[in-house]
Amino acid sequence: MYPDQLDKNFSPRNPVLDGVDPLIAARYSPRAFTKQSLSAETVDILFDAARQAPSCFNEQPWRFYCSSESSFDQFLSYLVPANADWAKDASLLFVVTANTQFTHNGKPNAHAWFDSGAAWYSLAYQARTMGLYTHAMGGIEHDKIIAGLNIPDTEDVICAVAVGVVDFAAAQQEEISARKSLDEILTIV
Ligand SMILES: Cc1cc2nc3c(=O)[nH]c(=O)nc-3n(C[C@H](O)[C@H](O)[C@H](O)COP(=O)(O)O)c2cc1C
Repeated sequence: MYPDQLDKNFSPRNPVLDGVDPLIAARYSPRAFTKQSLSAETVDILFDAARQAPSCFNEQPWRFYCSSESSFDQFLSYLVPANADWAKDASLLFVVTANTQFTHNGKPNAHAWFDSGAAWYSLAYQARTMGLYTHAMGGIEHDKIIAGLNIPDTEDVICAVAVGVVDFAAAQQEEISARKSLDEILTIV
């Protein structure tokens, strides 16, 4: 059984407490995608959700470089082979970068990666509300991406993300990653 088909109290991970939004538990990173194209409106909605994330000084340091149907294979070539193997069936691929300088004073923005992380998760959550799944990838070819997408020196390339529709039959074989317990990550002082 996979998250979409489960009642709100089920967690494939460590138990999720009642009160946690079921869509948070219903996000995981699939490798089993079934190729389907997404409308331009869907793509806009996903990135608009990313745009709403909070950021230090409201800098909004996140930048996204997204594939289209014609550039999908180009983006696929930016992934290490182990990721390209499964990501080929995603609907789209995008690269996340962070602008590492503040606009207002040109100084380094120590929170740029943190804020770009918030933006990607906002998109990942929005995807789940639309029945879509996301899978981030650190296994990417940084130099190829910088050259192929003309990424300026002021941006750090963080990761790529696959967005798509899960192939539920194949997804039954996938492992769901466990989570650390609250005790391991939370210190109440
Ligand atoms: C920044 C980042 C990089 C990741 N890199 C890869 C990757 O290169 N290949 C891969 O298959 N999964 C990758 N993942 C997925 C993680 O392995 C996955 O999120 C983690 O095991 C938790 O599982 P879940 O997302 O299914 O809950 C990455 C995730 C993040 C956030």
